[in-house]
Amino acid sequence: MSASIRIPDGFVEELKARIRPSDVIGRKVKLKKQGKEWVGLSPFTNEKSPSFYVNDQKRIFKDFSSGIGGDVISFVMETERLSFMEAVEKLADEAGMQLPKATPQDEETYDRRKRLYACCEAACRFFEDRLRAAEGTEAREYLENRGLGAAAWARHRLGYAPDDWRKTIDHLKAESFGMQEIVDAGLAVVKEGGGDPYDRFRGRVIFPITDVRGQVIAFGGRGLQPDAKPKYLNSNDTELFHKGRVLYRYKDAREAFGSTDAGGLIVTEGYMDAIAMAEAGIGHAVAPLGTALTEDQLGLLWRAGPEPVLCFDGDAAGLRAAYRSIERALPHIQPERTLFFCLLSGGMDPDDLIRQSGPEAMKQALSNSVPLIEVLWRRERDAEPLDTPERQAGLEARLMQAAATIQHAGVRAAYERELKSRKNDHLWQMRRRARGPAGRSDAPVKGAHQTSAPAKTRGLGLLVRAIDSPHLIDVGFEMLSMAVFLDEDVATLRDVIISSPDAGAGVDRRAIATHLVQSGNMRAADLLNSYPATTAIAPDGADEREWLIALEQYVARDDASASGDVAKAEVTASPENWRRRRHEVAEREARVARLNEAAEQTDQD
Ligand code: UTP
Ligand code: MN
Repeated sequence: MSASIRIPDGFVEELKARIRPSDVIGRKVKLKKQGKEWVGLSPFTNEKSPSFYVNDQKRIFKDFSSGIGGDVISFVMETERLSFMEAVEKLADEAGMQLPKATPQDEETYDRRKRLYACCEAACRFFEDRLRAAEGTEAREYLENRGLGAAAWARHRLGYAPDDWRKTIDHLKAESFGMQEIVDAGLAVVKEGGGDPYDRFRGRVIFPITDVRGQVIAFGGRGLQPDAKPKYLNSNDTELFHKGRVLYRYKDAREAFGSTDAGGLIVTEGYMDAIAMAEAGIGHAVAPLGTALTEDQLGLLWRAGPEPVLCFDGDAAGLRAAYRSIERALPHIQPERTLFFCLLSGGMDPDDLIRQSGPEAMKQALSNSVPLIEVLWRRERDAEPLDTPERQAGLEARLMQAAATIQHAGVRAAYERELKSRKNDHLWQMRRRARGPAGRSDAPVKGAHQTSAPAKTRGLGLLVRAIDSPHLIDVGFEMLSMAVFLDEDVATLRDVIISSPDAGAGVDRRAIATHLVQSGNMRAADLLNSYPATTAIAPDGADEREWLIALEQYVARDDASASGDVAKAEVTASPENWRRRRHEVAEREARVARLNEAAEQTDQD
């Protein structure tokens, strides 16, 4: 409905005039009258003394602690994470204003859809009621066994569809819905050869599915017996419900997301997973409805936040599903539109993990999420052995083919660079390993999978790039000196780079290699000599910035890399940490700018 109806001129003004901001806002924020205004605690920050103001005369609000301000529509958009259109629809509903009906046909559609919504809502209430009735005993036990008590039933509006062919239909008829409406709402099935329609959901636990506004539009039903066929049954597609365009729990998740500092919603595979997450305090979890993620669903995810996290089982089937999502997402990724992946181990889904090891284990797993490029890289790296030049060229071709599907030119270029550099590093590591510790065995490189161990020489590529494009040594000098490299020889190489007398001007590989040999660091010299030539990085460009960001990862942090703990250091590559790190870099830059300013001041004095 939302997309097809246009808001006419004057409608929004009329709507705002009819609604008293303090009525709507007062439901979310406790307001006290103060003169002409209302005052309360900011819903956007954790402030202790009130600096959030609502002015009914001016019809605006202003939050001095976050700087957010606007009218009642923007308030609803902010706090409920709705689009403008959705917020207007919601408020219009409350104000008793009809959104315009363009043609009589639209009007008819609108009225019919309204009836279907009402029918779904009535069915939902009926199922909720039946769960609590005598016939719901088994379903209640089933839910209790899965750790869901009465409070959770209410929160997720869980229900039970009686094990009967007509009870739901009869109930809805008694509530004045016609048989055609009941069928159109997806609640009754019409047999092919004619005969009376019968209840679609029978003897199942019911999960209501809502639209972006929270209105019930469909249902999922789970059989109570372990061998129920099918295990889950969904409503058929209807005028209100298209399974590829909806995410289970989307509205609730979006609201919960508003008060997290996560990068995006979390996508699990099933209803029970999304619910288990919510019950574990991870409220921003959704699930598709038994199908692979569609482009529409990706759109919904990105409307809520830039970096959704897709949870999959780390086994073969889960990986295939992750790969399918990559395929769907790649054409559409942008600087603020990407995916992260949380690959769980041991064949467990989030529900299993939370039940077995608790919410903290799930949060830990989420903080280990890896970016899209990592999964893409692993997919191609592991697709085939890389033991011949032809196969190595094949890897490059596959990587470039995948990158080529990215429509955003900047992101595509960044992927091409990053994938090439990963491939070069990887092949180089393979050759090193093949040569063995003595450095000259001719043993052939075996399958691709032996290469998945974490690189022992992490950071080497960055240093080689700095040697090949020496201006990097200047711009990254401070970070280079602070960086922690776990490999001793990589660290030695760094020491030589930053202590060479004319760093930034005359360094080259040969000079540094000679220096290393002379100081007895044969292995470090060998590392450097056998590293393939890198493409030059131009000063002041995007490549240089990326190099700096990559280097930033090695700068000691109290909690991770500084302790020399590889596992912990790798954990820092989660979305939250990326964001934090970006923030830290920005802060550092600001600090440097301030220092420079101060220095200039003193110069002038
Ligand atoms: P799974 O089969 O992975 O089961 O279905 P699950 O979510 O772990 O279910 P529980 O824990 O045994 O209850 C994942 C999702 O796939 C859809 C449902 O949306 C389910 O939540 N599904 C699954 C179906 O639509 N039909 C089926 O027969 C099975
Ligand atoms: Mn499960």
